[in-house]
Amino acid sequence: MKAATEVTESLARFPRATLMSGATPVERLDRLSNLLDIDLWMKRDDLTGLSFGGNKTRQLEFYFGDALAQGVDTVLITGAVQSNFVRAAAAAAARLGMRAILQLEERVPGMGDLYHSSGNVLLARILGAEHIRFPVGEDESGADAALHRRAETLRAEGHKPYVIHLGSDHSPLGALGYVAGGAELLGQMDDFDAAVVPSGSGSTHAGFLTGLRLAGHAAPVYGICVRRDADQQHRRIETVLTRLAGLMEFAPARVLGGISLWDDALAPGYGRIGETTQEALTLMARTEGVFLDPVYTAKTFAGLLGLLRQGIIGKGQKVVLLHTGGQAALFAYQEELDTLLDR
Ligand SMILES: Cc1ncc(COP(=O)(O)O)c(C=O)c1O
Repeated sequence: MKAATEVTESLARFPRATLMSGATPVERLDRLSNLLDIDLWMKRDDLTGLSFGGNKTRQLEFYFGDALAQGVDTVLITGAVQSNFVRAAAAAAARLGMRAILQLEERVPGMGDLYHSSGNVLLARILGAEHIRFPVGEDESGADAALHRRAETLRAEGHKPYVIHLGSDHSPLGALGYVAGGAELLGQMDDFDAAVVPSGSGSTHAGFLTGLRLAGHAAPVYGICVRRDADQQHRRIETVLTRLAGLMEFAPARVLGGISLWDDALAPGYGRIGETTQEALTLMARTEGVFLDPVYTAKTFAGLLGLLRQGIIGKGQKVVLLHTGGQAALFAYQEELDTLLDR
């Protein structure tokens, strides 16, 4: 698709670090296609390459590109205790010879020892990143402000710190990674009827939708809520899209009408495994041998199954499910998974 190449080329003016191993594969899920009576494909962004892969590698190419352009020596980032973003940032920092300071927020109350020590926490320690704690899980501007205070101290000590913000009121550099991701998919396959993607911070959802629309592709992009309900998430995606339009200099009207959000798979809440999440996770593993993660991608697939049940995605349609990685967290959720699998 020529227009997709133009979208990719339009990103060349933004500084970018190379962190991906190359284009990720698109695979047909034959057994699930038969079972669900659709033509189901998966964009394997769990295989982006860096550390355990995942969507955050795409996003970090633009944050680290910006950081490199500014001559930064330390990157600060905040996320949930089992955040894939902070782990991937630690890996990117290691690869580029920078120091990483990871702030871990207590977003999921009542979790046990494994949640706080295994999975991404363990990986980030192996990567040599420093951990700091933030006691609140729902205070984005507070979490960002805490990083800025730490950055000030570093600056006073002669370092060059760079903060990757959590709040949506900052330049959405990460979304550029998914503008590239959407265009990359169109270069591989453009005859699909719908795409299903996770919607958390919104960088993936907003970027992917933008990549498709700027290339002239009109397929619905269903954003599956993994963190907030559909109303709240709608406002967030609007904000990210509007900022992205400003950054890339296109008219926001080209994308704003394409926001479509589904929160039926969100319960019992962020970072919690509900019944539909568990069903989706085991169904994918047992029919395709592909692992999803408990926080994002199992919910996203559960969302796709819900859209099918409701007839919003019709029988026979060609659908692309975006696998955004995150499987390292499976080990941190062993206690919760044990309980569910033993039932
Ligand atoms: C594995 C995985 N999938 C999906 C998401 C959600 O992506 P975004 O924050 O870009 O909305 C995340 C975010 O942390 C993630 O780690």
